[in-house]
Amino acid sequence: MRKKVTIVGAGATGGSMVEILQAKGYCDIVVVDIIEGLPQGKAGTNDWKDTAGSDVVVITSGSPRKPGMSREDLVNINANIVRDVAKKAVQHSPDAIIVEFANPMDAMCHIAKQATNLPRNRIIGQGGMLDSTRFRTFLGWEVGASVKDVDAYVLGGHTDATMVPIVSHAFIGGIPLRQLLPKDRIDAIVERTRKAGTEIVGLLGTSAWYSPAWGTVEMVESILLDRKRILPCSIHLEGEYGIKGSFVGVLAQLGARRLSRSSWSRTSSPA
Ligand code: 2OP
Repeated sequence: MRKKVTIVGAGATGGSMVEILQAKGYCDIVVVDIIEGLPQGKAGTNDWKDTAGSDVVVITSGSPRKPGMSREDLVNINANIVRDVAKKAVQHSPDAIIVEFANPMDAMCHIAKQATNLPRNRIIGQGGMLDSTRFRTFLGWEVGASVKDVDAYVLGGHTDATMVPIVSHAFIGGIPLRQLLPKDRIDAIVERTRKAGTEIVGLLGTSAWYSPAWGTVEMVESILLDRKRILPCSIHLEGEYGIKGSFVGVLAQLGARRLSRSSWSRTSSPA
């Protein structure tokens, strides 16, 4: 049967996700939003009934950042929205996997988990995909290499202070990063990566959407097409790395109906 994806929130990120998924062509897509007219303008709906039976529900709804705001500043505004949306998502799509993207993302994953009581393989946060892509891009620019040949991850939290670009396990064309660049350049790129979301808010006047949309679609695709990709995602840790009961960005394998933390990340340490 054809797969179905619901995007909650018809804003810029939701709209971009719809466009990318539509071009890929392997699933039906429903975009739902509370605002009258906005989703209809993007071929979507205000009616949650249209989302019924989705395989994946992506939550983008909530306020984006404005210049001067951190992701954490959105916690009170977005918590009520995410709580409500997560409940509705499960009510209409009881088997769906929720991909959470509203900010502050790791905290919103908690809200979604509290609201739905879903097991951890059904609530996955997006932030690491975006942060890792930024890290890889800056590294590629620095050495004049294609981003496709940069192998690097950002783990930890999706906030400027808690994200951890993993330098010790970063490679370009198979060569360890530390053999290619001096420490001061690596430090500068790590710092730019941590603050890249803020940099974009300063330029655009609102949160980024193209790269978040692409990162989320890669996760959705791995689930829908059972690609079993090992991707940086926020997962509810239940004892791994000595952490229990927190959503943290780790490497995890995403496939149809399952998700397992990757042993690849076990040896990664912030450096
Ligand atoms: C970012 O880092 C919106 O949190 C998102 O750009």
